[in-house]
Amino acid sequence: MTDDRPLLEVRDLTVDYEVGGATAWRRRTLTVVKGVSFTIAPGETYSLVGESGSGKSTTGRAVLRLAEVSGGSVVFDGHDLAGMGAETPLWYRRDVQAVFQDPAASLNPRHQVGRAVTDALRRHGVRSRAERRQRAAEAFEQVGLAAAHLTRFPAEMSGGQLQRVAIARALVLRPRLVVCDEAVSALDLSTQGQIVNLLADLQASTGVSYLFIAHDLGVVRHISHRIGVLRQGVLVEEGTTQDVFTRPRHEYTGSLLAASPASVPDGREERRALRLARGGGLGRSGSSSPFLPVAG
Ligand SMILES: Nc1ncnc2c1ncn2[C@@H]1O[C@H](COP(=O)(O)OP(=O)(O)OP(=O)(O)O)[C@@H](O)[C@H]1O
Ligand SMILES: [Mg+2]
Repeated sequence: MTDDRPLLEVRDLTVDYEVGGATAWRRRTLTVVKGVSFTIAPGETYSLVGESGSGKSTTGRAVLRLAEVSGGSVVFDGHDLAGMGAETPLWYRRDVQAVFQDPAASLNPRHQVGRAVTDALRRHGVRSRAERRQRAAEAFEQVGLAAAHLTRFPAEMSGGQLQRVAIARALVLRPRLVVCDEAVSALDLSTQGQIVNLLADLQASTGVSYLFIAHDLGVVRHISHRIGVLRQGVLVEEGTTQDVFTRPRHEYTGSLLAASPASVPDGREERRALRLARGGGLGRSGSSSPFLPVAG
């Protein structure tokens, strides 16, 4: 059976925040995501870009059930999040993982980093201690860390290494979707490239999908199959990576492109288009060539 149903379907999503203090008469409703719709296929990377405050993280948080859906729907693998009740089911917390900008913030400074991975396995029912250690060591290897790193403390690791730990923790549960919210934004350019390449390699070997959130178009270019551009809570543009980079339809996308250090076409999109035209399926522009950070 061929299954071309999207893994994630976000339909007309609206998210409101109540702002303005403690008393009811001061409070007002701020709509920060306004009728956003997109889908993500299995094995696909869909990127959301847009300037600060445009609603990217809020959209990601709605998918993660960390922000309440005020209108529209989020459907994962046919399951409407609205039907899940207050407590997010364990299977959803396994299938949908997150990697955020600051890995140190989600790691206990007093715990060896390997524990972040073994704890995740324990929460998800891996009873055997030996199996947890074994799988943690494998996960570390998958993300390019040595088994010796398992016993390090966060303060002993670089930002890039910590982000690898965060990715190992997310991937060890074999999720189907990972929300990467500014996952490389705090890293220097060459480390960004390494992490983006790692995420792409892991996608190729596991078939995981990514909702990749970034304000920098230069970063998303090398990992995205499709890109959506958010502006003030509205999805103003959506297309394949090639289309968005070479034929932006919205003026706002053009200004984002102009502001991006990697705005000069380098021919990869054209090669990817050729592969797609030959029936190469979900090819990625950067998957066979190293990510080339553009100094800017
Ligand atoms: N918990 C909250 N309560 C009230 N307003 C919020 C809350 N979280 C976010 N906002 C507001 O919602 C809007 C969208 O925020 P969001 O974090 O989704 O933007 P973003 O696109 O991720 O921005 P950035 O690039 O800075 O991360 C902003 O105006 C923000 O101030
Ligand atoms: Mg954000």
